[in-house]
Amino acid sequence: MKITVIGTGYVGLVSGACLADIGNDVLCLDLDPAKIQILEEGGIPIFEPGLQDLVRRNVAAGRLHFTTDVVRAAHFGTVQFIAVGTPPDEDGSADMKYVIAAARNIGKHMTDYKVVVDKSTVPVGTADRVKAAIAQELAQRGANIPFSVVSNPEFLKEGAAIEDFMRPDRIVVGCDDEQAAHNMRALYAPLQRNHDRMIVMDIRSAELTKYAANAMLATRISFMNELANLAEKLGADIEHVRRGIGSDPRIGYDFLYAGAGYGGSCFPKDVQALVKTAQDDAGMCLKVLTAVEAANDAQKRVLGQKVLARFGADLSGKHFALWGLAFKANTDDMRKATSREVIADLLAAGATVTAYDPVAMAEAKHCFPNEPRLTYADSQSAALDGADALIIVTEWREFRSPDFDTIKAKLKTPVIFDGRNLYDPAQVRGMGFEYLAIGR
Ligand code: UDX
Repeated sequence: MKITVIGTGYVGLVSGACLADIGNDVLCLDLDPAKIQILEEGGIPIFEPGLQDLVRRNVAAGRLHFTTDVVRAAHFGTVQFIAVGTPPDEDGSADMKYVIAAARNIGKHMTDYKVVVDKSTVPVGTADRVKAAIAQELAQRGANIPFSVVSNPEFLKEGAAIEDFMRPDRIVVGCDDEQAAHNMRALYAPLQRNHDRMIVMDIRSAELTKYAANAMLATRISFMNELANLAEKLGADIEHVRRGIGSDPRIGYDFLYAGAGYGGSCFPKDVQALVKTAQDDAGMCLKVLTAVEAANDAQKRVLGQKVLARFGADLSGKHFALWGLAFKANTDDMRKATSREVIADLLAAGATVTAYDPVAMAEAKHCFPNEPRLTYADSQSAALDGADALIIVTEWREFRSPDFDTIKAKLKTPVIFDGRNLYDPAQVRGMGFEYLAIGR
């Protein structure tokens, strides 16, 4: 099938490369010539395990192409994926200007039937706006060309995006005509494996499904974080509680890990956008999600507060090693990363910090430009040099079984603040550490 993917950000590039890999002819459009140049030269502008090879292989096979040419892109694909950014507005609602601009360009230049697919995470009702924008452009040039609009939200986890695309648990398709449904079935047939994973529904339900999924996951995390804070006060261990409740199949084990708060490009933005949509379009206050967001904002400060409680409100003269900057492991993404709050809180109290992250240090440098009290180390061990204590913010695998003797020898006081509950408290305390984790 001939496919155009508009936007070579995270979702667009992963989707484009995966669709090419299953045999489609894919053209990716981006208006940023610098991005397209990187891609044409065989590089990728983001970090995602396996993506570079996937892009190279499909470019070499002649199935994956890149362009900045809007007209060529509109002519190319029968299926036109819109995968442009929807950055949050000042007030938390998603900004639709790039989505609508993409729709307008399709309407302006299309010459035959198109299936226009919203892949970006967009508020309920966006497909109607996309439809109207295309129809308006067609009317303006007196063209009568049929098209369908489909909502097909992505459920890609950073760090596992290719696997999530290629082996989906479900493919949600919102559409209101048979031809579009037929096209989407044909497109995703190679990913169905042993049973039908496509769930077809009306467009608004599909749009809401995406927000509902992320909001539910964020709710589980905030719920566990709040219980973790309670467990600490009551002398219980949230990890035991997690196993105790996860064994109920109605609850399940996944996504119940207490920690220093959730970050990333999706959960914070989507929870906020859903609250805003409810307010603006339905006059409703979503009480549960408002609390989920507030609880998470507070949770991101918990590590900093533990440090202040242990070392005093004035941290001048104190130096901390910080392991992990990215919002989670296997990504260099610093968007809404908890490390940003932790570092800001430590610096505000007068401390100095040396951070180490396997891949996110370059990104982190953009978040804290010209900050002389924040430095970076080449290794997790080097970060410990001269530190009073160690603070762990991201659950990278390489932090899971460190050399505790080295840590102890290097730290001035053997204190570990663990924002991701990586270790067995009894074991670490048995080695002579003061171990301050989340909810244990
Ligand atoms: C998420 C969704 O999982 C994905 O389906 C959607 O399409 C996009 O948003 P992502 O943002 O890549 O994906 O990260 P995810 O792995 O879901 O983690 C989000 C945040 O929650 C991270 O900061 C992580 O540390 C935190 N988290 C996750 C917890 O604190 N506890 C958990 O149990 C799980």
